[in-house]
Amino acid sequence: MSITSTLARSQHKLSDDTFRQLRDYIYTLTGIYFQNNKKYLLEGRLGKRIQILNISSFENYLQYIRNGKGQFDELQFLYDAVTINETYFFRNEPQFEAFEKHLIPEIVQSRKYNGRSKIKIWSAASSSGEEAYTLAMIFLDKLKPRFPDLDVEIVGTDISQSVIEIAKRGVYKDYSIRNMPEYYLKKYFSVQDGKYHVHDSVKQFVRFEKQNLFDQSRMRFMRNFDVIYCCNVLIYFDLKSKVQVVSNLYNSLNPGGYLFIGYAESLHGISTAYKLINFPKTVVYKKE
Ligand SMILES: C[S@@+](CC[C@H](N)C(=O)[O-])C[C@H]1O[C@@H](n2cnc3c(N)ncnc32)[C@H](O)[C@@H]1O
Repeated sequence: MSITSTLARSQHKLSDDTFRQLRDYIYTLTGIYFQNNKKYLLEGRLGKRIQILNISSFENYLQYIRNGKGQFDELQFLYDAVTINETYFFRNEPQFEAFEKHLIPEIVQSRKYNGRSKIKIWSAASSSGEEAYTLAMIFLDKLKPRFPDLDVEIVGTDISQSVIEIAKRGVYKDYSIRNMPEYYLKKYFSVQDGKYHVHDSVKQFVRFEKQNLFDQSRMRFMRNFDVIYCCNVLIYFDLKSKVQVVSNLYNSLNPGGYLFIGYAESLHGISTAYKLINFPKTVVYKKE
């Protein structure tokens, strides 16, 4: 349903004052910041939810979530309402090229000196899992034959429980596979009822869990990663939350580890801790 029709159905009006309070509440929990010109988005998305709950106004809804009534479940709905989950397989191909051809061979080489044969990869803000499964397919198809002793652990996390459930199922529609090379589709998916099911041979390398990048206490448990993909999520944060999240990701990386962010994102003015490295049509940030 379009936002316009949602608004038409909703009798509730979001006042500027309540918008600011809701926006601040969401920001404190998630780091996601709604600029003033995005008020209509919150009004449309939460208006529908308020109707379902039979709550009479945005003011009462704010009270409802603040008072913690049905807190856990309602926060899930809130997170679903305020996040954008757009993703697809092989979204940014130059990043995957750099990963396969340069980063992993370099990490494998350094492992010869420290004896570890497992690489840890984190798809932070994984949405429904396409990025994490792309990495698992590249590992299986290109890296494992080249480095038979190499093992991998891929973790996909997202703040939204509903996209994590989709990721765990690993069943996708046409939209998700639109950029995927035919070769991978044929080799690592089976088609049932017009949907694409990821093979278990790929799924075995990936696990998914709910994780809020803005939750300092949980972030402390995310450690020793060799490569982190944190793509197309920083754009929803304000400067302060970007700085916090990017600094936490730094602590989550092994020395020599790499961070990818989205094509349209940059760490300029956010962190000087990483070294910027150029690859064809992409850049990556290194923890030295
Ligand atoms: C546009 S998707 C990007 C998916 C994937 N990384 C990609 O580039 O294709 C952004 C994801 O970030 C998640 N997200 C937003 N705020 C978050 C937070 N504070 N912690 C974890 N995930 C968050 C959203 O739920 C959404 O699934």
